Amino acid sequence: MESIVITGAGTGLGKELALQYAQNGYSIILTARRIQPLIEVKQEIESLGGEAFAYPLDIRCYEEVYRTVNSIIQDHHVTCLVNNAGIGYFGPFSSLTHEQINEMIQTNVNGTIYMTKAFLPYFQTLPKAKVINIISTAGLRGKINESVYVATKFAIRGFSESLVKELEQTNISVTAVYMGGMDTPFWQGTDHIKDRSRLRSAQEVAKQIIALENGQPEIILS
Ligand SMILES: NC(=O)c1ccc[n+]([C@@H]2O[C@H](COP(=O)([O-])OP(=O)(O)OC[C@H]3O[C@@H](n4cnc5c(N)ncnc54)[C@H](OP(=O)(O)O)[C@@H]3O)[C@@H](O)[C@H]2O)c1
Repeated sequence: MESIVITGAGTGLGKELALQYAQNGYSIILTARRIQPLIEVKQEIESLGGEAFAYPLDIRCYEEVYRTVNSIIQDHHVTCLVNNAGIGYFGPFSSLTHEQINEMIQTNVNGTIYMTKAFLPYFQTLPKAKVINIISTAGLRGKINESVYVATKFAIRGFSESLVKELEQTNISVTAVYMGGMDTPFWQGTDHIKDRSRLRSAQEVAKQIIALENGQPEIILS
């Protein structure tokens, strides 16, 4: 059975992608820092007749990423990596702390790059493999009170566009996904979004991504 690795799979969009890919017959490798949400998603997938495995992982840590990815590929036939994990701190640029800035850069930028780097040599041995980078419309244009978050998403846009070109003649496709706001735990602890209930559900966005992703360089869902 082919496996899909999803980062940030315990909540929000990652969880919905996991549930829907599992329904499509893939074995799902769930990763995130907290084990409990991963176990709950694993149980939900199994209760629907699917297969899932939980690997706790902090994508900010290079050594941890390498160790975990090596352990995953020893036991599973992974053909797709979904770089979904991400965090945001919002407000005027001057209000952001040094820690918040570092956390966003380390998670959204370094984490995505580390995961991709760890999987690439293995993907190069397969007939076909995919990397899907979940970005945001924050990777397409600047926004007030989102400066550093936007900077991290522009970085991953640049990374994705470059890899698309670099891997063009190979068996590996790279897809960047740009979507607008979703009603997920991402917005907990901030009043940046006044009314979350007006945002799209992660379930609906996951459905669109799965329907549209077919190795093309980008998907824009605004
Ligand atoms: N919600 C929106 O409006 C929106 C819009 C456009 C794009 N996005 C993007 O969509 C992606 C998913 O976000 P979401 O809305 O589904 O938010 P979410 O529910 O907060 O999910 C993010 C996940 O990332 C995981 N994560 C955070 N830091 C991590 C780390 N260092 N290592 C491993 N996992 C980590 C979290 O789990 P742990 O805390 O357990 O690690 C969490 O499950 C993000 O990249 C986000 O930027 C969101």
